Amino acid sequence: MSATQTATGAPTWLMLGASSAVARAFAREAAAHGHGVLLAGRDMDDLERQAADLAIRYEVPAAPVSFDARDHAGHAAFARDCAARAGGPLNLFLAFGSMPDQAELDADPAAAAAMVDANFTGAATLLAAFAPVLEAQRQGMVVALGSVAGDRGRPRNYTYGATKAALHTFLQGYAARLSRVGVGVLCIRPGPVDTAMTWALPKLPFMASPRAFAAAAWKRARKGGGDAYLPGIWWPIMTIIRNIPTRIFNKLDL
Ligand SMILES: NC(=O)c1ccc[n+]([C@@H]2O[C@H](COP(=O)([O-])OP(=O)(O)OC[C@H]3O[C@@H](n4cnc5c(N)ncnc54)[C@H](OP(=O)(O)O)[C@@H]3O)[C@@H](O)[C@H]2O)c1
Repeated sequence: MSATQTATGAPTWLMLGASSAVARAFAREAAAHGHGVLLAGRDMDDLERQAADLAIRYEVPAAPVSFDARDHAGHAAFARDCAARAGGPLNLFLAFGSMPDQAELDADPAAAAAMVDANFTGAATLLAAFAPVLEAQRQGMVVALGSVAGDRGRPRNYTYGATKAALHTFLQGYAARLSRVGVGVLCIRPGPVDTAMTWALPKLPFMASPRAFAAAAWKRARKGGGDAYLPGIWWPIMTIIRNIPTRIFNKLDL
């Protein structure tokens, strides 16, 4: 068990879904700003390499930790273990999730259930498990990645979008609960980011690089909790999309 607190007492960032391209870039931001990092995910070889790289490059403590969003029963013990490993306050960055093709999900109920189980149920059970830890430390930040896909269901990805809409709603209540103990909760609704999740898709407008996205997320997280579209251009776009009348919306190829 190794403490990831730095000498400054800066909170450790716990990256959940740390192999994600976005989480990887955010972990670099955190380490570059002098925070220790715990890298949680399923691919331990990748996480070990990433931890070694961060520790050497930025001279901060970094360690991998095994985590599966679908192991709901294990989340309470996982939360306690992470708090012990950090040896001080924790910040959370939730970046796990998947977006299988909608046709595949419609044809395979098991695949649809597995996606909902990780994207939403896993996030909900995990955040519930961390609430006592965050309440006890009475400080910190939770940054969670929702999606613009959660704002309005589209034929292309409505099951995935539904998991994100559910996550947005969960985060609103969670943020209110934790605001009473000084913990900020930030729900980020990313537009398309150039990662493994979007590689198979046709070229998308206003696509952000993981690095630019992480830098913007870091900047926004320093302002505290709330709800933010990143890049910011997605706020006006989604305001328009949410307000398109249904009979017109249903004819659009979105
Ligand atoms: N890319 C975009 O355009 C975009 C837009 C809006 C929102 N988002 C959201 O941003 C987050 C990061 O996505 P990304 O674009 O960086 O995609 P990514 O590179 O595909 O990363 C997704 C990560 O989720 C992990 N994961 C999936 N199921 C898991 C489980 N059951 N337990 C633990 N980890 C699990 C994957 O781990 P494994 O490697 O072990 O599979 C992977 O590291 C996701 O929540 C996504 O929904 C992305």
